[in-house]
Amino acid sequence: MKQITTIKEAKQWLKSYQKKSLKIGFVPTMGALHEGHLRLISQSRAENDITICSIFVNPIQFNNPEDLAKYPRNVAQDARLLKNSGCDMLFSPTVEEMYPGDKQENLEMDFGMLDKVMEGKFRPGHFKGVVIVVRKLFNIIAPTHAYFGKKDYQQLMVIRRMNELLGHKVKIVACETVREDDGLAMSSRNLRLTIGERQVARRIFEVLCKVREKGTKTPVWELREWAIKKIQEDSSFRVEYFEIADRETLMPVESWGHKNQVVALTAVFLGDVRLIDNVELFS
Ligand code: PAF
Repeated sequence: MKQITTIKEAKQWLKSYQKKSLKIGFVPTMGALHEGHLRLISQSRAENDITICSIFVNPIQFNNPEDLAKYPRNVAQDARLLKNSGCDMLFSPTVEEMYPGDKQENLEMDFGMLDKVMEGKFRPGHFKGVVIVVRKLFNIIAPTHAYFGKKDYQQLMVIRRMNELLGHKVKIVACETVREDDGLAMSSRNLRLTIGERQVARRIFEVLCKVREKGTKTPVWELREWAIKKIQEDSSFRVEYFEIADRETLMPVESWGHKNQVVALTAVFLGDVRLIDNVELFS
């Protein structure tokens, strides 16, 4: 596996593949890799001629400096995992390489409400930072296919919209959420849970599954309130939001008229670790 840290070298390395019109699969990450990321790599390998992974803890998508400081980083271990999983190139630039000087990045894209509800509301500026870095990475790598996990459902929708606005240059591939044996969605943030918190963390997915089960038998507002109460029955949890929303626009729904295309999404603090998860309903 080739390891590259500069944009110039990455572009140079990719030139020969681009000339041959090969399929280039791309898995953008912030590192602290787990099985969820490795599944994205393996899907990309199955569908492309070469697979590139990037590791870049993108400072401009963190609205909370403490969260950025605490984000787990271990590029050497990640590189070993990627090598063993058959990744062809790892691009791991520095912050200075990606954002040289004080240059302010602009984002003239209209996402409607997609980047304003839920994560957009509680993490102001987050999606702006995600879109800026993903657009930049797409420009450097010029992938034919890019792989994103459904755990970050809203991010996936925002990136799809970005790709649409940029003229569909990349095929965005959505991959199912990978879960631990007890159902907890795999996330780099799980590393920050205490042993006690880790033992109870499955509650989030359990409640989401119950919501899926209860479905249309209960009015939307009542189900939403029930879910929040159920998660918070254990006082180590604090629900930031719990929404049942249209799968495409992510606007919260008021009734089950939409029933074929809704998703239940939540962000929950367990201690001081913020976890997100979702399940698609009626699929
Ligand atoms: O999902 C992530 O890890 C990040 O938001 C991404 C897409 C790599 C952009 O920094």
